[in-house]
Amino acid sequence: NDYDLLVVGSANADLVIGVERRPGPGETVLGSDLAVHPGGKGANQAVAAARLGARTALLARVGADDHGRLLLESQRAAGVDTVGVLVGEDPTGVALITVDPSGDNSIVVSPGANARLGPEDVRAAGSLLHASRVVSAQLEIPLETVVEVVRNLPPDGRFVLNPSPPRPLPAEVLAACDPLIVNEHEARVILGDACVSGEPADWARILLAKGPRSVVVTLGAQGALVASAEGVSRVPSVRVDAVDTTGAGDAFTAALAWRLGTGWDLVRAAAYAARVGAAAVTRPGAQASYPTAAEVDALDGGRPGDAAE
Ligand code: RIB
Ligand code: NA
Repeated sequence: NDYDLLVVGSANADLVIGVERRPGPGETVLGSDLAVHPGGKGANQAVAAARLGARTALLARVGADDHGRLLLESQRAAGVDTVGVLVGEDPTGVALITVDPSGDNSIVVSPGANARLGPEDVRAAGSLLHASRVVSAQLEIPLETVVEVVRNLPPDGRFVLNPSPPRPLPAEVLAACDPLIVNEHEARVILGDACVSGEPADWARILLAKGPRSVVVTLGAQGALVASAEGVSRVPSVRVDAVDTTGAGDAFTAALAWRLGTGWDLVRAAAYAARVGAAAVTRPGAQASYPTAAEVDALDGGRPGDAAE
């Protein structure tokens, strides 16, 4: 394979303002200076994987504008192959982000060019798909594009999906996921009424029964749950001081997808991904906060042997 990971997904310019607290309806608050960062769940995953050392490509759409150039630059600086980053008429996607003193964010995305990443772009990228061990996607692009990805996976290819922002998923997509990676909010949307009660471990089992080969439920400071035919296991979290959680989930997904492609089992890959996600929350921004493999090993409680395998 030419690539450890192909990411199919969004690229956004993140317009970030720090706030003491978020405004309510009809309210105005003053915030920090504006920061403009490269972001988008797809572009973030690609940078996170490449920074860890994965051979990575991105299939995405940006505009012929300053934001698009910012995105392309950050992909290239991280070592991502941008042959699949298409530049078109529509403006680059934008995310309006507020970050509060606890490091939590809220995000509104204007998809722009991301909405034009279509099934025909997936078909045209057939050689990229077939050159990749693992393909990952999120839901800031049209759902029919994700459907086309699962229809065009190579026979031995592995598919990883973080359905964010969440919406109900067709059976065909669910069946391809190995794993489906959700946080609690995403689990609730995908399960609908099926998760009104019960514990996260129950949601993991119910999600698994919907067709994915495996499921990971991320639980923030409580770590993550990993569910497969072998049962449900808990993966511990790594304690850090959160500065900005933006994009930490993208780093988790990218690290997990890469490690699965290198032959790690799901529990071990999820434990490594939790460490990558933890490192990412200790610094501001999304892509700018992603660690190298050496930085992951150096985290408190690190196991330096892991990165070498
Ligand atoms: O997951 C974080 C990302 O969500 C941000 O970079 C923003 O662009 C939105 O897509
Ligand atoms: Na961060």
